[in-house]
Amino acid sequence: METLSLDQDRYNEGYAILLEKLERRPRFRKWAHEVFPVAIVQKFASDQGDDDGTFRTLGIGSGNGEFELHLLKQLSTRFPRINHVVIEPSEEYIQAYQTEVASSSFQGSIHFEWHEGTFQEYKQKKLEGTSSDGRFDFINAIHSLYYAENARETVELLYRSLAPGGILMIEMSDDKTSGQRLFEDFPELQQMFTLNKWVTFSDVTGALCNMSIPFSRLTNPMIFDMTEVFDETSREGNLLLDFFTHVSNFRKTADDGLVQRVLKFLKMKAEELAVMPLEQASLTTGNVGDGKESTGLKFKKIWETLIIEKR
Ligand SMILES: C[S@@+](CC[C@H](N)C(=O)[O-])C[C@H]1O[C@@H](n2cnc3c(N)ncnc32)[C@H](O)[C@@H]1O
Repeated sequence: METLSLDQDRYNEGYAILLEKLERRPRFRKWAHEVFPVAIVQKFASDQGDDDGTFRTLGIGSGNGEFELHLLKQLSTRFPRINHVVIEPSEEYIQAYQTEVASSSFQGSIHFEWHEGTFQEYKQKKLEGTSSDGRFDFINAIHSLYYAENARETVELLYRSLAPGGILMIEMSDDKTSGQRLFEDFPELQQMFTLNKWVTFSDVTGALCNMSIPFSRLTNPMIFDMTEVFDETSREGNLLLDFFTHVSNFRKTADDGLVQRVLKFLKMKAEELAVMPLEQASLTTGNVGDGKESTGLKFKKIWETLIIEKR
């Protein structure tokens, strides 16, 4: 078995399919326009920024920027000069992000600094040592802190890197939802993430509590159809299965017994959700009635946004 992290094309393809399933693009656009301004943008003082009036932002694992750009557009309505640092190890994503930037317009001006590499590399070069303290007004990590290796050290460093009045926004899947639980239930898969430990949402909230750093939390529950995962001939299904197990070509390369146990586990999760009374499922997921009945196998995912303000 080979980790999906080493197969960037397949990783990116699997993630794109998951985003489609979750209807992530329209949901995030709405969130960025309706929730983000109130939950974050309006919390900054009007003079937040450096002495020259530049508002300094950092994106960790920004991907192709399709979500981050919505946030930057909102921030630029309040801060006319932004310096934004992008950390992203995928060359393909960086190129896609740069293409998107070239055709985007912002209310103010945004200067982009690109760092093709991991957060760990950037941290060693740029963040360690006290000179980076207070360097950023806004830091976001959208579904990327899983790869940071050490929750406490990372959160502590990011918090230190915030300027007074700065805000750190972290979005992650709740580990109790189907995707993440795989790694608790199948330790064979844990090592697929990194040689070190995969950072979970609970690790991050635990680290924040341990360091007595206050945070607020927004919950975004979703139900989505995963029927294809159980169809061994489905390309989409196999890519999704790879994304969930984090193994490249899981069905073909993993031990058959492990494949069967993982599929059985996923089916059990879908069946648990199917027998949940409709109102309870809706209430739990917040994914209330598009009115469409579907008999497919559904999974639940809960994405959490943590908001940490530096006092
Ligand atoms: C699930 S994607 C999220 C991408 C983007 N933030 C979004 O919401 O679409 C995870 C991202 O983290 C990046 N990544 C993986 N390992 C990383 C690391 N060690 N440091 C920084 N980013 C990493 C991946 O290349 C990928 O773009």
